[in-house]
Amino acid sequence: MKIIAKKDYDAMSEYVAEQLIAQIQQKPDTVLGLATGSTPEGVYERLVKAYQDGRVTFARVRTFNLDEYIGLDKAHAQSYHAYMNEKLFKHVDLDLTRCHLPDGSGDFEASSHAYESALKQYPIDIQLLGIGRNGHIGFNEPGTAFDTATHVVTLDQATVADNARYFKDLAAVPTQAITMGIQTILKAKAIILMASGEAKREAIMRLMSGKVTEALPASALHRHGEVTLVIDAVLSQHVSRHTL
Ligand code: PGA
Repeated sequence: MKIIAKKDYDAMSEYVAEQLIAQIQQKPDTVLGLATGSTPEGVYERLVKAYQDGRVTFARVRTFNLDEYIGLDKAHAQSYHAYMNEKLFKHVDLDLTRCHLPDGSGDFEASSHAYESALKQYPIDIQLLGIGRNGHIGFNEPGTAFDTATHVVTLDQATVADNARYFKDLAAVPTQAITMGIQTILKAKAIILMASGEAKREAIMRLMSGKVTEALPASALHRHGEVTLVIDAVLSQHVSRHTL
């Protein structure tokens, strides 16, 4: 795992956005794996800016998102469909028929299969990831088998509590989601995991211990040869102290 330490969240976002822009410039039909949450927001802002400045076109790019809540309408402001639309899709020239998100409604078995088939047809070039405080990637919570494909999950209480900030109260947070599995994520050709701030310290410390365990879903990334961990100074001071 390659580690890139930047001074703060903005510098991390800048770095990752430039990696994605360079990838798309070099391969205009790049397949991007996208994440939601607070972590990638700075990257999306910079991608929009790069598009507006004429530095990049998304006309031939295809995207796959990691996950979606179950029980929220796509039009709900806190759905990940709405998040992607607000943060990125509506601001750039992406062809929306090439923007895939798991379907959080209807027949989950059929939609999970369909998602895996589409991913097989269009393998992800770069997957963007955040990490939960409990070490989850996508919505793969601790204890998830590493060989899982796209599947339905019940969210950890910790995840529901973390995500409550986006809802009117705890009771309004969905308790289930559909997510790419860990095996699905590991099929991406390259992976960029971003983490910043004190809240992620424990998860990153556990990741950097090198122990591969289903108790820490992100540790599966040690089994992938092309992972870049991008962290801020808050975390890198601990990582260097830890690795020395
Ligand atoms: P965050 O969430 O980016 O909002 O911190 C990350 C995650 O839960 O994977």
